[in-house]
Amino acid sequence: MAKPKVIVTRKWPAEIESKLKADYDVTLNEEDVALTEAQLREALCSADAVLPTVTDAVTAAVFDADPLRAKFLGSYGVGFNHIDLDAAKARGITVSNTPNVLTDCTADLTMTLLLAAARRAGEGDRHVRNKQWTGWRPTHMVGTKVTGKTLGLIGMGRIACAVAERAHFGFGMKIIFSSPHTPPADVTDRLQAQQCSQQDVLKNADFVSLHCPANKETYHLISADQLAAMKHEAILINTARGDVVDSQALINALSSGEITAAGLDVFEGEPALDEGFLALENAVLLPHLGSATKETRIAMGDRVLENLKAYFAGQTPRDKLV
Ligand code: DGY
Repeated sequence: MAKPKVIVTRKWPAEIESKLKADYDVTLNEEDVALTEAQLREALCSADAVLPTVTDAVTAAVFDADPLRAKFLGSYGVGFNHIDLDAAKARGITVSNTPNVLTDCTADLTMTLLLAAARRAGEGDRHVRNKQWTGWRPTHMVGTKVTGKTLGLIGMGRIACAVAERAHFGFGMKIIFSSPHTPPADVTDRLQAQQCSQQDVLKNADFVSLHCPANKETYHLISADQLAAMKHEAILINTARGDVVDSQALINALSSGEITAAGLDVFEGEPALDEGFLALENAVLLPHLGSATKETRIAMGDRVLENLKAYFAGQTPRDKLV
């Protein structure tokens, strides 16, 4: 029997590409150049399954592909705001993602940003490299203490809980959070985490970290009013999605000192981020590295393979979204 035809939209870890080659008639993206909308549509017409990443916009227009061949979309990543799930469902396409396997790494990166923003690590690194350092002095590049402070989480899913673990047990931080869902009591009890309104999180937290999905409800959830509600000493961390924050409002708040700093891994319209960020010494900017460790990127690939295998075996993929 002919192997199913599978198209991968970006370059994946070599280990995973070898596994794909063994089991499928696979088209890899050796050049690692993002597919255009037309190429994505063409992929849906020419393969049995397409494996996109979180940067491929699989919109209703893409799902309009005709004649449609692919009936499975195995996304490499946990976020799924880049896929129009309603359109996929309407065309009878099964879609899966890769939850859990990137929780720890994304939580680690959240703490990286939190610590770097609080202790001015990006600014300090630039200072040394630019040969501006003239020696230790009591008032030099003084940052914000992390230990014992209050961490406010917007959203309390898997990644937020993993951040809370690190912050509470590693840094003695008090945890407050807002979420439309109440996590299991044993989780919040262990973390001594207190659920409150978003307004109270913004008002009381020394660090605000965003962990909500990107959708119509969370678009610009953090805008000028929310930034104004935060403490002047507060630091904002975003490892969720760029458009949860109004970039221009954040640039204004960081330049005027309305809030103290920000640590950002994601940007509205990335990778073409708002130029205003570049001049801000009090913003730590990373290129969407949340899941970027060797172990995690392989685990994400394995998870896609597991979903793909289940789909072709006529089973329900473990991470089926629709
Ligand atoms: C995701 O998986 O949603 C991340 O943003 C990329 O790892």
